[in-house]
Amino acid sequence: MKENVGVRRYQIILPTSKPKSKKVSELPAADMNLKPAYLKTKPEPLILPDDVTNIFNHDYLFMSLQNEYKWLNTESKHFLQQIYNSIFNSKMTVAIVTGGAKGLGKAFCEALLKRSYKVCFCDVDTDEGENTQKYFAKQYGNGNVYFQKCDVRSENDFTVMFNGVLQKYSSIDLIVNNAGIIHETQWRKCIDINLNGVIQGSMLAIDHMKQGGGVIVNVSSLSGVLPTLYAPVYSATKAAVINFTRSWAMNPAVNQNSIRMVTMCPAFADTDIIKDTKEEQFQGKQFVDPFLEKLGIMPLERVTEGFLKVLDDQDNNGKSLIVTANVMNYVTFPDPLKPENK
Ligand SMILES: NC(=O)c1ccc[n+]([C@@H]2O[C@H](COP(=O)([O-])OP(=O)(O)OC[C@H]3O[C@@H](n4cnc5c(N)ncnc54)[C@H](O)[C@@H]3O)[C@@H](O)[C@H]2O)c1
Repeated sequence: MKENVGVRRYQIILPTSKPKSKKVSELPAADMNLKPAYLKTKPEPLILPDDVTNIFNHDYLFMSLQNEYKWLNTESKHFLQQIYNSIFNSKMTVAIVTGGAKGLGKAFCEALLKRSYKVCFCDVDTDEGENTQKYFAKQYGNGNVYFQKCDVRSENDFTVMFNGVLQKYSSIDLIVNNAGIIHETQWRKCIDINLNGVIQGSMLAIDHMKQGGGVIVNVSSLSGVLPTLYAPVYSATKAAVINFTRSWAMNPAVNQNSIRMVTMCPAFADTDIIKDTKEEQFQGKQFVDPFLEKLGIMPLERVTEGFLKVLDDQDNNGKSLIVTANVMNYVTFPDPLKPENK
């Protein structure tokens, strides 16, 4: 922990009594310029570690440090996270998200920006990427996020992006290999993006993180765990991502260098990858509907919840998190070498 950093004590807003309802918007806003009634009036120079503990121990503020922030509105959460980061993490935390212009990648970027990460997101879609950059810059500050055109199939694009991030923010603590497509007719392209892109991003990240640790989140799919009759190539790429990640996680280069590698396996989520599709992208588009009916389509918030869980769980190296509307569990893989029961 670093001393003499952080937020002045009078900037911390503590409600004096437990809110009666969950109408958290009535809690004082997390705006340093406001002087709400609850504000501690006697400023002391700097926040002490105990203050942080006190804040986090108020059950109506934080149920626990890392997951539920029950009674807080968004700005308050963001504000307290900043306090936490400024005290406990003296250095900034930097993330790369591939395919971040829209859909899940954009949602992951936003979740990271709310946690005060510096974010570089890449995409092949420059129009969408630049629009998203404008939105993020307005919400979270221009210096905290930027868009980089990068096709994850290109080693050169990836390397240029890594070097750019290191030049701008000096470190890379997290990479989310998220870019992906479904395309059964253009199946080589599908493999190139969904698998080779993840391999490329992971290997560059491992190489960098060997010096100081970090987290690699590879986005697979429920289709990587279960066979998927309407998208065999997509399913194969996503299964490969799981075993690629599990295999690296066992390697000392990862597990002895404070690197965590994790896979996410979401079911259907509300993005263009399922909404904006053509017949030729599937081996029988008509087979998709029964699965959609069975599993439903998750809002992006649900998948983001899984993403944050994957980030916060410290003991998940090599694991794969299933995220559906009702299930959020790490996969238990069978042991094929277990002797048979006689
Ligand atoms: N939405 C779902 O139902 C669902 C379910 C399980 C897994 N996934 C996975 O989640 C990830 C994100 O998908 P999404 O649902 O947000 O889809 P999406 O189509 O909304 O977003 C994918 C993004 O990746 C970008 N992209 C495509 N090819 C790229 C390339 N070569 N280089 C860089 N960027 C590229 C696209 O331009 C787009 O912005 C994918 O890997 C997908 O397979 C999605």
